Amino acid sequence: MSFSDDLVQWYQSNKRQLPWRDTHDAYVIWLSEIILQQTRVEQGLPYFYSFLEKYPDVSSFAAASEDDILKLWQGLGYYSRGRNMLKTARMVQADYGGIFPEAYDQLIKLKGIGEYTASAISSFAANEPKAVVDGNVYRVLARYFGINEPINSPKGIKIFQSAANELLDKHRPGIHNQAMMEFGAMLCRPKNPACNICPVSEGCYAFANNAVNLLPVKLNK
Ligand code: ADE
Repeated sequence: MSFSDDLVQWYQSNKRQLPWRDTHDAYVIWLSEIILQQTRVEQGLPYFYSFLEKYPDVSSFAAASEDDILKLWQGLGYYSRGRNMLKTARMVQADYGGIFPEAYDQLIKLKGIGEYTASAISSFAANEPKAVVDGNVYRVLARYFGINEPINSPKGIKIFQSAANELLDKHRPGIHNQAMMEFGAMLCRPKNPACNICPVSEGCYAFANNAVNLLPVKLNK
């Protein structure tokens, strides 16, 4: 079994049931990923449901006013996310006839969608082989492979992206990415990680070398 097989197996029996999982609708995935960018799952969930109820597709979102969107966004913070979403929804309506793109190269051109979000949407919606690298993934990779390079240095960013690409299961990139993030959030936590029940502790550098609390390294800038 590969690292990815072990993680995916763990994910399938232990994942949280979250409403944006098990959908391939790029609009729904986009909505969830933007809401979750600076927001915890428990806080984001009610917003996700309100948005989806009021705007079930990108065309209805695009037809909203900025006031409507910001009102529904109230309490989430980082209001530029809401404004960018409206710009993106209107662009999708105008340029793609209201069909939310699924291809990384199209997604990356949209307002408020960076490498992480474009990888998440394209892999979850269309199984495009793009590895997501978020805070959870940095932590998992740094500990498992013993990567000392700071996660916020230019060299570190490159090293972690290559490690994530190499590890990606190209046959099932969507579930692989979900499993990496869920594993980082639920077991390979920043503090008090659950190494005692970890499915990949046997091959983990940090576990073997008593370095779990020393990794990942982050520079104070
Ligand atoms: N945080 C960001 N994206 C997420 C996802 N797809 N599932 C759970 N938490 C997340």
